[in-house]
Amino acid sequence: MTRKKPQTFHVKSFGCQMNVYDGERMSEMLSAEGMTAAQDSTDADIVVLNTCHIREKAVDKVYSDIGRLRRDDGTRPMIAVAGCVAQAEGAEIPRRAREVDIVVGPQAYHRLPFLIEKARNGEAALDTDMPAASKFGALPSRAMQKRPTAFLTVQEGCDKFCTYCVVPYTRGAEISRPWNAIIDEAKALIDGGACEITLLGQNVNAWTGDDPAGRAQGLDGLIRALDTLPGLERIRYTTSHPNDMTDGLIAAHGDVEKLMPFLHLPVQSGSDPILKAMNRSHSAKSYLEVLDKVRGVRPDIALSGDFIVGFPGESEADFEATMQIIRDVHYAQAYSFKYSPRPGTPAATMADQIPASVMDERLQRLQTLLNEQQYAFNQASVGKQTSILLERAGRRPGQLVGKTPWLQSVHVQADGAQIGDMIAVDIISAGPNSLHGEIVKRKAA
Ligand code: SAH
Ligand code: SF4
Ligand code: F3S
Repeated sequence: MTRKKPQTFHVKSFGCQMNVYDGERMSEMLSAEGMTAAQDSTDADIVVLNTCHIREKAVDKVYSDIGRLRRDDGTRPMIAVAGCVAQAEGAEIPRRAREVDIVVGPQAYHRLPFLIEKARNGEAALDTDMPAASKFGALPSRAMQKRPTAFLTVQEGCDKFCTYCVVPYTRGAEISRPWNAIIDEAKALIDGGACEITLLGQNVNAWTGDDPAGRAQGLDGLIRALDTLPGLERIRYTTSHPNDMTDGLIAAHGDVEKLMPFLHLPVQSGSDPILKAMNRSHSAKSYLEVLDKVRGVRPDIALSGDFIVGFPGESEADFEATMQIIRDVHYAQAYSFKYSPRPGTPAATMADQIPASVMDERLQRLQTLLNEQQYAFNQASVGKQTSILLERAGRRPGQLVGKTPWLQSVHVQADGAQIGDMIAVDIISAGPNSLHGEIVKRKAA
């Protein structure tokens, strides 16, 4: 028996910003198929769980979420598992959770409409191919995006094979999207109202491509081209690998006005033996040298990083080296995680796995230090005047939230200003996670 064609959909994304971007593109594609977005999963005919495989907990969450999609009356929506868990677990997913109808990997989601048809006919609907031809060409244009800030994937995949990480397996080999495809997508986003674009890639600063004149370019060349687009006011990019911070990209931080003074540059550990075991191919010193260069051209740059505590073999001295690099850098914000062994990665079978209690205690010390630095960075903004781009409504009536160039959230009373406005504010007070500001004046458009 053929199942009813889904009329409404809900896409739920987990994990990194790339997954958020993919989720938006899947929503656009389902809309282009004539379906409408449901408020949440309870009233959707099809639910897409766009999953993350990076740590064990993220995977467990997928299976508990699948279970929760069963409704009180015994029915359930059509369920598609997309993203990195789909890629990593494939056919194992419907074996473990029989209610799953569709499994679709991150490089195959342009085939979702076809897979829905298969599932309606009761056929197995699984696609975890990594086709040579890019999915991007098969997706609808970005005309539906109507937000002041937008993500734009320019690079995908990773060839670095850090020993703890699943991304090279779930996202595949490094690919860069072509110059024209990126510029066209940026223009469509700007036409839709975006004044800030964040360029995305698992190693975004490894992007390479030819410009229309046939010259080989790196990410800095692309950023300089985007800088000339009317209507675009802010450019960001994430995530970068320390070894791909070229001199050209560093120089762009000094002279491209629209490039925001913020750099997310994960280091993972401050200990060279651990970095070596992680196959990070940079040292603590080479990382600090990159940051020195960036600060040399852009002294006010806000720095962010990722840290893993409790990698196999991490001694107290190794951990102390990580604490020391944090003290040296002074981060504006950061993400930190307990090491999570991932099946199939080299680190999962390394000797000297660290007990959970030791990891917990180290993570707490590390986060205390990072939180102190973030609070200090925010407090240093008090009394300053800066521009913010209003992105969303705040929790209180009449309140809006915008971001500073340094990616801090600022709460303001709207006072006639609207989402999408770029406005000048005085920073009045600072908390650990956000700032309070007062609007100075509306910037002329
Ligand atoms: N490509 C980026 C981000 C990769 S995933 C980079 O190279 O920095 C985001 C973060 O998750 C990583 O930076 C790392 O800190 C963390 N991570 C990845 N695998 C992990 C694991 N097995 N256990 C704990 N944290 C992990
Ligand atoms: Fe994972 Fe390392 Fe690649 Fe980042 S560089 S995605 S941490 S393998
Ligand atoms: Fe997670 Fe895949 Fe992103 S594993 S962090 S969703 S690339």
